[in-house]
Amino acid sequence: MPRPEKHVFVCTQSRPQGHPRGSCSQFNSSEVMDAFMLAFQDHDLWGKHKVSASGCVGPCFTGPSVLIYPESTMYLKVTPDDVREIVEKHLIGGEVVERLKAPDDIW
Ligand code: FES
Repeated sequence: MPRPEKHVFVCTQSRPQGHPRGSCSQFNSSEVMDAFMLAFQDHDLWGKHKVSASGCVGPCFTGPSVLIYPESTMYLKVTPDDVREIVEKHLIGGEVVERLKAPDDIW
């Protein structure tokens, strides 16, 4: 398997209802993960980049959180409708989607 140029981690962490930290799962992060899978398929990115579901990556109340390496870019409050823009601008175009980027005091 070739080493991916970029690796997208979609937080799909769940926690019990009422947990003080909340979780990305309560903000429908599985739908964001599905949207990434579809976008990877549509753009034939599987041999170049990788997307994985992950556990908690930090800022739980602003989820769903998406973290992209190797540049360590964190996106917050990502919806399925945002995924195509992240894929086309960031993964394909190499440009950060500023409107979704985590503020410096968070990441
Ligand atoms: S649960 Fe997703 S960042 Fe913590």
